[in-house]
Amino acid sequence: MCGIVGYTGTNEAAPVLLDGLAKLEYRGYDSAGIAVMEGDALQVVRRRGKVAELAHTVGHFALTGTCGIGHTRWATHGRPSEANAHPHSSCAGDIAVVHNGIIENFADLRDELAQRGHTLRSETDTEVIAHLIEEAWGASPSGSSEASGLAEAVRIASMRLVGSYGLAVTSAREPGVIITTRRDMPIIVGRAADGSYVASDAIAVLRATRDVVYLEDGQLARLSPEGIEYFDGHGKTIAPQTTHISWDMDVAEKGGYPDFMLKEIHEQPRVIRDTLAGRLVSGHMEIDELDMTSEELNLIDRVYVIACGTSYHAGLIAKEMIESWARIPTEVEVASEFRYRNPIITPTTLVVAVSQSGETADTLAAIRDARIKGARVFGITNVLGSPVARESDGVIYTKANKEIAVASTKSFLGQLVSLTLLALLLAQSKGKMRMNQIRLIFRELADTAEQVERILSDQSAIEEAARACVNATSALFVGRGMGAAIAREGALKLKEISYLHAEAYAAGEMKHGPIALIDEGFPVIAIATQSAVYEKVVSNLQEAKARGALIVAIATEGDEEIVKHADHVIYIPKVRDALSPITASVPLQLLARSIAVMRDCDVDQPRNLAKSVTVE
Ligand code: M6R
Repeated sequence: MCGIVGYTGTNEAAPVLLDGLAKLEYRGYDSAGIAVMEGDALQVVRRRGKVAELAHTVGHFALTGTCGIGHTRWATHGRPSEANAHPHSSCAGDIAVVHNGIIENFADLRDELAQRGHTLRSETDTEVIAHLIEEAWGASPSGSSEASGLAEAVRIASMRLVGSYGLAVTSAREPGVIITTRRDMPIIVGRAADGSYVASDAIAVLRATRDVVYLEDGQLARLSPEGIEYFDGHGKTIAPQTTHISWDMDVAEKGGYPDFMLKEIHEQPRVIRDTLAGRLVSGHMEIDELDMTSEELNLIDRVYVIACGTSYHAGLIAKEMIESWARIPTEVEVASEFRYRNPIITPTTLVVAVSQSGETADTLAAIRDARIKGARVFGITNVLGSPVARESDGVIYTKANKEIAVASTKSFLGQLVSLTLLALLLAQSKGKMRMNQIRLIFRELADTAEQVERILSDQSAIEEAARACVNATSALFVGRGMGAAIAREGALKLKEISYLHAEAYAAGEMKHGPIALIDEGFPVIAIATQSAVYEKVVSNLQEAKARGALIVAIATEGDEEIVKHADHVIYIPKVRDALSPITASVPLQLLARSIAVMRDCDVDQPRNLAKSVTVE
């Protein structure tokens, strides 16, 4: 979603800000803007559309100045427009604010501010912050004066805010200074030889520094060209810990691939290997970060997996494994529903929260709710130190490394591998599987890395199937058992990046309604890998074929029977059913991407979507 970047130092600020904003583009946005201190005045440039368009306009204005803040906005309050784009300014125009998050009491604050003579010029919740700071600093129409400087004014103003925020603020009254603070939104601050940096995502500052401070809720930082000071919520000086970022900058480059999605799909064998490293020690499963003894794990008698989108689909697959191997009743719920329900939670309930970004607002709220109700919470996330990691009792990192394309691919595979490990660990702790069986599955799991490499090495059948589907207006994805969950992920991938309507059904459900959709050439993409339900899936395909469907089957190598029922067959290596989601989802990712490319869609940044959904 929205992105923040700020810089004060010895270099020109505008190019630094624009470079940072370009790095944040992957998060999804609809407008962008920067504010730069030029002489003794703040110059604000904003545009609807892409950062490249903003850069063009900034070039036109030839902005000079060495301190500034920038923002990419994903509209929540007010449509995408220049007036609603950040930075927002105070009445006097000498304070500029960029904001991630949602100010829930903004309507009351707007009314109050208007009554006291402020003129608000946008439809956003953010603008109230600039005016509150103006008041706290004593330059408001009402003339109140409490704060002695920008940091204090921001601290006082933020006490009025209900909701979530990551803020960066600069002012012509304190040139060269940026104040930043946060609640429930990430803020990262870093120091380099050429100055001080702030961003909402480490990727925007990585070129300058790898040693950063992740601000905690309520903390503030005061950035100047000379250094950075930190304060707690009472204004007292603090010395927070620095974190070293070890992942490479090349995650932010395409490395010769035409788009990030394809690059990330090709990284999946590495993700599988890295996620498995060190998990089988002396023949036993170990996940130390969960911080629970085998005895404690043995007491777990109910599991909820909570997640959204693709992560939810990983949860559906986990349910099959946890129930079948560890024999623990498991429910999978979308976090946005779970948080408003009254689920049955006891001290022996385990909640597994799955989130690539570790920032998803609904998942975070569900974690908090589950912990209040007494559950033990495990997070499965891709982002070190993310809110999901920090707020869970234990965490498994998926080792996918930064994922840039909005569509989750490598992080999904990392989640599947991590959840398989968790299911095996629970089975081990509960004594429900023999150790040699656990070791065998672990070895087969490790083998999927090489199997995925084989799938990636020849994509001709996938390309051919994509060409057959490209002009469709809708598609059905079907499967049974594990295949039904994979089908849901395949449909989501296709619709989010190609804008082709797609639905997923358990294949046995087709005759209860969706089969009515099928006419000549209607694409039905079937997960028809070898499993106990293979014959059933084939029967369902025959029913669809008889009505003219164009069948694309994901099938197991060596299955010659399937060619009689499918127009296009994409073969994948043979694996046990429980591991089939890992291999079968790869051709579905590639199929969705190929169709999207053929339809001339922006594969990495699909319309209306954000990489991290940090609002409810
Ligand atoms: O970061 P999270 O895993 O919590 O995100 C959940 C969903 O927003 C995410 O999986 C979304 O569905 C992706 N765009 C799917 O490709």
